[in-house]
Amino acid sequence: ARLVILLSGTGTNAQALLDACADPAYGARVVAVGADRDGIEGLERACKAGVPTFVVRTQDYPDRPAWDQALTDAVAAYEPDLIVSAGFMKLLGPRFLARFGGRVINTHPALLPSFPGVHGPRDALTYGVKITGCTIHFVDSGVDSGPIIAQAPVPVLADDDEVSLHERIKSVERTLLVETVGRLVREGYRIEGRRVQIGGFDQ
Ligand code: GRF
Repeated sequence: ARLVILLSGTGTNAQALLDACADPAYGARVVAVGADRDGIEGLERACKAGVPTFVVRTQDYPDRPAWDQALTDAVAAYEPDLIVSAGFMKLLGPRFLARFGGRVINTHPALLPSFPGVHGPRDALTYGVKITGCTIHFVDSGVDSGPIIAQAPVPVLADDDEVSLHERIKSVERTLLVETVGRLVREGYRIEGRRVQIGGFDQ
C-alpha cells in the first residue's frame, strides 16, 4: 500500500512508520511526506529515508480553500492508498476530504472524545484524569471527531507536566500507529457509521 504522511513537527510518528515500512512484510511504503511548513525535523527524517517531500504553506495562498485545493493536488500526485496525519497542525479541508475521505487517518494524543484539539495532553493534565492515552481515528470534517479505529491507555503520574506526559503518550502512540496502519493495509477495513471493522472479511 502507498502511504502519504502529513506532519508539522518533529515527525517521530512518521519515523516509526518509515522504520516499519523497511520490512517488506509490513505491506506498505511511504511514497511521500508532506508538511504545512518548511524547516521541520519531520521533513529531514523523510529526506534521510530517501522519501520525497512537499510543503504546502497557507501563507502562499490567497485563502484557505485555495490552500485546501493545493494540498489535495500535492497529495493526489502520489496516488496514496492511505493518508496518515501525524502531528499535522491544520484542519484538512472539504476538498481534501471529498477526494480522500475514508482513507485519511489521524493520531491524537488523548482518548477521544475526551480532550480533542491541539492541547490534548495539557487538557488531560489540567482536568486531573488518572488515565489518558492515544487514539487513531478516521478524519472527518470535525476536529478529532471521526470514527475511532484504535486506542491505547497511558497513565498520568503525580509528577507529570505536559512535556513528560506527552512524551509517555508518544511512545505508546508510535507503537499503536505502526500496528494499526499495518493491520489496515494488510487486513482491509470497513467503516459502518461510527464503527470501524478491521479484517475478518472473506477475501
Ligand atoms: C503527536 O503526539 C500527535 O498525536 C500530536 O502531535 C504529536 C506529533 O509528534 N498531534 P511527532 O511530530 O510525530 O513527533
